[in-house]
Amino acid sequence: MKERSRTTESAYILTGPATLEGEISIDGAKNATLPCLVASLLTDEPLHLYNVPDVVDVRTLLEILESIGVKVFRMEEGIRVQCETLMNQEPPQDLVQKMRASFLLLGPLSARFGRARMAFPGGCQIGPRPVNFHIDGLIALGFQVNCDEKGVTVSGKPAKQSEYTFPNVSVTGTEHLILTAGLIQGEVVLKNCALEPEVVQLCELLVSMGVDIDGIGTKTLRIRGKKYLRGSRLTIIPDRIETGTYVIGTVLTRGKTRLRKTEMHFIQALTEKLEAYHVDLYKESDALVVDATNAVFDHPDTVVTEPYSGFPTDLRAQYMVLMTQLEGKSTIQENVFPFRFNHVYELRRMGAHIDVDPPRASVYGPANLYGATVRATDLRASASLVLAGLIATGTTRIIDIHHLIRGYARMVEKLQALKVHIRMEPADLTLQPRFSSVHTS
Ligand code: EPU
Repeated sequence: MKERSRTTESAYILTGPATLEGEISIDGAKNATLPCLVASLLTDEPLHLYNVPDVVDVRTLLEILESIGVKVFRMEEGIRVQCETLMNQEPPQDLVQKMRASFLLLGPLSARFGRARMAFPGGCQIGPRPVNFHIDGLIALGFQVNCDEKGVTVSGKPAKQSEYTFPNVSVTGTEHLILTAGLIQGEVVLKNCALEPEVVQLCELLVSMGVDIDGIGTKTLRIRGKKYLRGSRLTIIPDRIETGTYVIGTVLTRGKTRLRKTEMHFIQALTEKLEAYHVDLYKESDALVVDATNAVFDHPDTVVTEPYSGFPTDLRAQYMVLMTQLEGKSTIQENVFPFRFNHVYELRRMGAHIDVDPPRASVYGPANLYGATVRATDLRASASLVLAGLIATGTTRIIDIHHLIRGYARMVEKLQALKVHIRMEPADLTLQPRFSSVHTS
């Protein structure tokens, strides 16, 4: 039996204050990789993905795919996934419950093999995360869906013509129905779709596999699937949230960094804000340069999180750390995950002055942060604690970093390259299998 990947609970030890200086490469986007890997279920031909980040969520999804019969080849330059036959229509519950994106398998498996069953998914602790849009969407597409206390079974033949309007914008909800529609011979119309770059990349992948999609990058998609799709090759887009995290880290520490292999336009909602604080952001040959050496934090800010192209909820915890350094009272309105504020209690232990009344928070600055032992509670919360550690005086110990390594590749290595005194506590990730050859830095 194959050994499942372990996430050893470990800690980062970080000594501040630091100034980020130097150059790193940004990895491929975790949230683009996950649905693109699931697209391998739509064809018996191989799918080659490049620029795949070596993060735990990707490893977990690869394990889930392997557990149902998908062949995974880790190569120097990327990953090849191929689903010729299925060993099992029900991925193991323990793996499925490790990550929410595993729910993406349900529709594609039913569309290709006629039936699928999934446990309800797990994921980060960021408040309630229902899957009702996924289920209602599959029903609207014509499938039979039966839910019980443990999971969902999908069967039956989809309709030739169907339409579903998302009540609210949902990223994986949109991706799930796009993937499923890829094998439906007929027309599926999806309305109020998510516009995230990761959704656009998934559409482009499916088009290259033979699906007709009108309206890519808009809120209404018209999808005409095929019975058989072909294999394809795709380079995953840069991770905009990883990019934004290092941009905020640079600004926070008034540093200057070159971020290679990334794009500025994906994080416009962030960069527009930073210009008001005299941060220079520009493209120079193959890098995004962030020059915060003349940054002035002389006024507060307001952040309202929204679906793309609004300010991303996945950068909000990190931006909140910057707010602790802004003069005056900054405010946050969290519109995507109203209860995503667990990190605030930890930031307060480092000296931050923050009031929370979900979905709103007020941050009073500037505050002198100091090192403390703090607990990572979810992926982006963990990143915010690392950023706080950069400006804190003394040593910050961040425990439970297994949340962080779900989505950030080699963060310790990258921060060390940016001249930060950070290390991992001994019982670390060396226990885990890596496919690190796909990365450059
Ligand atoms: N929602 C429902 N019902 C559903 C689906 C969503 O009510 O069936 C609600 C959610 O509760 C939330 C809102 O709709 O209030 C938006 O959730 P969405 O479905 O867009 O989130 P997601 O697809 O589960 C993805 C990312 C998250 C990111 C959100 C928002 C992946 C694998 N995950 O989650 O990423 O925060 O979109 O942009 O793509 C992360 O990377 O740290 C992360 C949490």
